[in-house]
Amino acid sequence: MKIGVPKEIKNNESRVGMTPAGVFELVKNNHTVFVQTGAGEGSGFLDGDYKSAGAIILDTIGLVYAMSEMIVKVKEPIAEEYELVQKDQIVFTYFHFASSEPLTKAMIKSESVCIAYETVEDEEGALPLLTPMSEVAGRMSIQQGARYLEKPVKGRGVLLGGVPGVQPGKVLVLGAGVVGIQAAKMAAGLGAHVTIMDVNMKRLRYVNDVMPSHVVTEFSNEFNIRKHIKTHDLIIGGVLLKGAKAPNLITRDMLKDMRPGTVIVDVAVDQGGCVETTRPTTHEDPVYIIDDVVHYSVANMPGAVPYTSTVALTNVTLPYVLKLANLGWEKATIQDESLRKGLNIIRGEVVYKEIIEAFGWEAEVV
Ligand SMILES: NC(=O)c1ccc[n+]([C@@H]2O[C@H](COP(=O)([O-])OP(=O)(O)OC[C@H]3O[C@@H](n4cnc5c(N)ncnc54)[C@H](O)[C@@H]3O)[C@@H](O)[C@H]2O)c1
Repeated sequence: MKIGVPKEIKNNESRVGMTPAGVFELVKNNHTVFVQTGAGEGSGFLDGDYKSAGAIILDTIGLVYAMSEMIVKVKEPIAEEYELVQKDQIVFTYFHFASSEPLTKAMIKSESVCIAYETVEDEEGALPLLTPMSEVAGRMSIQQGARYLEKPVKGRGVLLGGVPGVQPGKVLVLGAGVVGIQAAKMAAGLGAHVTIMDVNMKRLRYVNDVMPSHVVTEFSNEFNIRKHIKTHDLIIGGVLLKGAKAPNLITRDMLKDMRPGTVIVDVAVDQGGCVETTRPTTHEDPVYIIDDVVHYSVANMPGAVPYTSTVALTNVTLPYVLKLANLGWEKATIQDESLRKGLNIIRGEVVYKEIIEAFGWEAEVV
């Protein structure tokens, strides 16, 4: 198969859909890979690295789309790319169709085959192509939180690990899912005292089994959260209710109970946040302060560490890319149920019912 890797042109996106290691595997399987010149630069991969792995470097994004049977990328196509997508072409990327009607309509019109990373689902209902980004964001939340606890950026002036003779900082993690566990692990590694809360006892038992003794679990309810926010320096929001807005576990009135300079990193911002005062921020201007509480709520945290994020993402996408290339999308999605769940639009027809529901298109479909 002819596979194309365009350069991402969405604002501030430095990741790329395939690493030289991925190109190497595909070429080994007798496929041809076209990479747009400069596509990997933001993630630290140069044209020469791709060439050595067997890729053909093309000068323009137009050529990559025109010559490829499958496009592998990171973000959804933006308006400038809509017309480039070809009839029958497979496009394998994050789409998040339900949040953009213009994108959905453009992909319907293109008559391409759109397979969305975010809806590929394994037997346990987990989302294997979203997990690595949650891992990155969870780990990063502590790195960012530790920085904003510093006094010059209006934090409490607390060093998370403490020093001999001084108590370590205290980190409260809401949600013991992928984000929460990675955050707890990083904070514990720095020597902080960690409290992690969830409503799922299975998750809390797991954390209790695998974490060191300075990570303690507590059931998540309003009473316990109100108690802990008074004494913790850094609060991480990692709560998710599948397919719904995150619950507001910290309400506006609770901010006054926190000590000045407390930092909240609300990773769940992309689902509305689990703090009432959360609003999305960017890497250019990541924090704001309300009632002396520092809020960090960047909606695409992995974007700041494109090398790690690109490698983490392509590690999990590559087996699916290989399957699609070796078998073609029809056979591949019959053989692999996880991949079948990734099918969102097939040659002009929306096949993922949540998208139809999101736009209230049921009547038209019937
Ligand atoms: N900002 C970013 O850049 C970024 C990056 C990756 C993921 N995220 C977001 O982070 C959030 C968490 O993702 P995840 O992969 O860890 O999800 P996950 O499903 O693995 O974990 C969520 C956890 O929240 C728990 N939970 C639900 N209700 C709760 C409550 N009332 N109190 C405490 N815990 C509760 C669940 O039981 C679950 O264990 C999602 O909204 C995700 O989209 C953001």
